[in-house]
Amino acid sequence: MPVEIEQPNVGLSNIAISDTHGENSPYFAGWKAYDENPYNESSNPSGVIQMGLAENQVSFDLIEEYLEQHPEASTWGQGAPGFRENALFQDYHGLKSFRQAMASFMEKIRGGRAKFDPDRVVLTAGATAANELLTFILADPGDALLVPTPYYPGFDRDIRWRTGVKIVPIHCESSNNFQITPPAMEAAYKEAESMKMKVRGVLITNPSNPLGATIQRAVLGEILDFVTRKNIHLVSDEIYSGSAFSASEFVSIADILETHKYKNSERVHIVYSLSKDLGLPGFRVGTIYSYNDKVVTTARRMSSFTLISSQTQHLLACMLSNEKFTENYIKTNRERLRKRYEMIIEGLKSSGIECLKGNAGLFCWMNLSPLLEKPTREGELTLWDSILKQVKLNISPGSSCHCSEPGWFRVCFANMSEQTLEVALKRIHDFMQEREREK
Ligand SMILES: Cc1ncc(COP(=O)(O)O)c(C=O)c1O
Repeated sequence: MPVEIEQPNVGLSNIAISDTHGENSPYFAGWKAYDENPYNESSNPSGVIQMGLAENQVSFDLIEEYLEQHPEASTWGQGAPGFRENALFQDYHGLKSFRQAMASFMEKIRGGRAKFDPDRVVLTAGATAANELLTFILADPGDALLVPTPYYPGFDRDIRWRTGVKIVPIHCESSNNFQITPPAMEAAYKEAESMKMKVRGVLITNPSNPLGATIQRAVLGEILDFVTRKNIHLVSDEIYSGSAFSASEFVSIADILETHKYKNSERVHIVYSLSKDLGLPGFRVGTIYSYNDKVVTTARRMSSFTLISSQTQHLLACMLSNEKFTENYIKTNRERLRKRYEMIIEGLKSSGIECLKGNAGLFCWMNLSPLLEKPTREGELTLWDSILKQVKLNISPGSSCHCSEPGWFRVCFANMSEQTLEVALKRIHDFMQEREREK
């Protein structure tokens, strides 16, 4: 029997009681509904299918194969000196071999077009920690970061909650495929100023979560011009860079800086993690790559709060420095993600549903606006609720990503088997037919 403890009314800090963590959004409520009634092909075939989780399980077999063939990466052997070294290791610079392997992996993902210096790689426990840590370094409480919408709902927690920094949205619209434009950036900047906030930077996600699309080279150039003109920072969260369906379709901000001979690079910081491209969110491995020496030094100091275990670093240093493994993994993973993407797009199309044209990521951005009874946030949430409760699919409503147009939903496709995806597509098909009949 759990012991019930009385909860007298003793005060907590403002951070503890603030709700800027955003965990009351439908994005998280849908996860709960899934947890209470999870789909299982044989034991619970009418359960909820989780399509709200950007997890990549399509290439686990390749990692498992590597681990089987290379026990030295994950086991220490009898009396191996490696165990003692790793057990005692606690330097916040991280293992040199791992920083080198990360830098070279990041280069490979970018088709070798940009160089990464291992001494600028700061290790963090995932991109969550990297984004928060960078925000602590770039902005003070009450300052603003401009973030294009729709954006990853976790940013509300990572950027705002403990730092006290505000997010001011850069509103992007479906009329130009949600691309970021200079007037939209200018409008957000003015909006922040009108609220007496000091704008410290722009945070982009490239490839975008939730759009599942890369940012074009010309747009990146405009963003860099904007931050330079305003003398503010640019954070580029490139957590999905290895999940672009082909290397040539992804342009990193690092490529742009390389072309510009690193002019204005001291204001640019890249966030990366192995949670998506390698499908290892449980390992908690992220990095800040900054072109600013002071940011690198400060981030390294701050990373003491959010280090990666040396055992994990050792395993990944072995795996990522194996050229044969990384080359095959990056290529195969991209191909498999593209295949999944095509499968879901085709399936949705045959049910009469259109999606934004994507070329990256673990999800598609689906347009259900024709189904809304009212073109409002409430209308969108009513539809989301019936998809969750009747169709038994958990998808993420665009409003949880701060999309300014109602009716868009993010649908994840890489966290399940092809068979489960087929079941999900069949459920959507039946739902659409029923709606058609009701008309
Ligand atoms: C854009 C973006 N940034 C950061 C994160 C957090 O990733 P991590 O698991 O590395 O903390 C996610 C996870 O979904 C994400 O989509």
